[in-house]
Amino acid sequence: MSFLTGLPKAELHVHIEGTLEPEMMFDIGRRNGVELGYASPDEIRAAYEFNSLQDFLDIYYLGAAVLQHEQDFFDLAYGYFERAAADGVRRSEIFFDPQTHTDRGIPIGVVISGLAGAAERASSELDMSCDLILCFLRHLPANAAMETLESALDHRESFIGVGLDSSEVGFPPRLFTDVFARARSEGLRVVAHAGEEGPPEYVHQALDLLGAERIDHGVRSLEDPGLVERLVADQIPLTVCPLSNVKLAVVESMSDHPLATMIDAGLLVTINSDDPAYFGGYVGKNYEAVANALALDDSVMARLAKNSISASFLDDISKTSLLSEIDAYVAS
Ligand code: HPA
Ligand code: ZN
Repeated sequence: MSFLTGLPKAELHVHIEGTLEPEMMFDIGRRNGVELGYASPDEIRAAYEFNSLQDFLDIYYLGAAVLQHEQDFFDLAYGYFERAAADGVRRSEIFFDPQTHTDRGIPIGVVISGLAGAAERASSELDMSCDLILCFLRHLPANAAMETLESALDHRESFIGVGLDSSEVGFPPRLFTDVFARARSEGLRVVAHAGEEGPPEYVHQALDLLGAERIDHGVRSLEDPGLVERLVADQIPLTVCPLSNVKLAVVESMSDHPLATMIDAGLLVTINSDDPAYFGGYVGKNYEAVANALALDDSVMARLAKNSISASFLDDISKTSLLSEIDAYVAS
């Protein structure tokens, strides 16, 4: 096993619907009688050419339509947890998009039971702990997000936090201020996508108006020196997704990725996969890609893994224990 694969790490930015591999999409689609319009998994894979976030989202929402039953959601999530465990992931906080499913008539309880069942099974059978973060689709109105939150609260014990995803530009965080206040009043943890395609101002809004404890992506924060200073001072984690950034043309190529600049600036950056079935690799591949393209040595990569543990929503005792495991791994 390579150094990077064996390195204990947390994955904090992965959309479970984005782990739906073409083979599973094809099989579940057939099982549920959903016509995808593709003759084989290879044909599905061949359609994965994106020039922007929206290009990707159009295909991603289409693929998710094969998911109908609790077992489908369980199989999807458990398959991801097994692949993550094989990549050295010891803590996984997965995003799910209930509205993608409830808008097709799938009850939210079906979605949450399937995913939470897989998280529970993985936490007991794999060498990792797992939790769920419910994301609101920001291209839909705030009142739809509020309704989603209210219905999800019937399953309050099954998820630990809320996030904000989907089409970013034109859908600023401030639109969701009330929903996030309601979530915080329930003791839910808060994250939000900002600064992927959207401007640094959206990162400020996510922090100031939503109470975000981590920023998902956040790469465009570099355009605002005052914002960088704030993120460094408060050690707000950024969940960076390198292969995603290249595939969605947020950066031109991996060697142009600003990750090294972000690390040098003192930002608390972490490495994640975003939608690995669509972007060419799980978290281990993302670690490898940046290490190779940016010539980051083992000590920098271990620092990134430690950041992922510190930035997680684990309790302090679990964090301390995983951080010392990383030290022991590096030393051996
Ligand atoms: N950005 C916004 N929404 C998303 C993404 C992303 O990278 N992946 C899945 N939904
Ligand atoms: Zn994302």
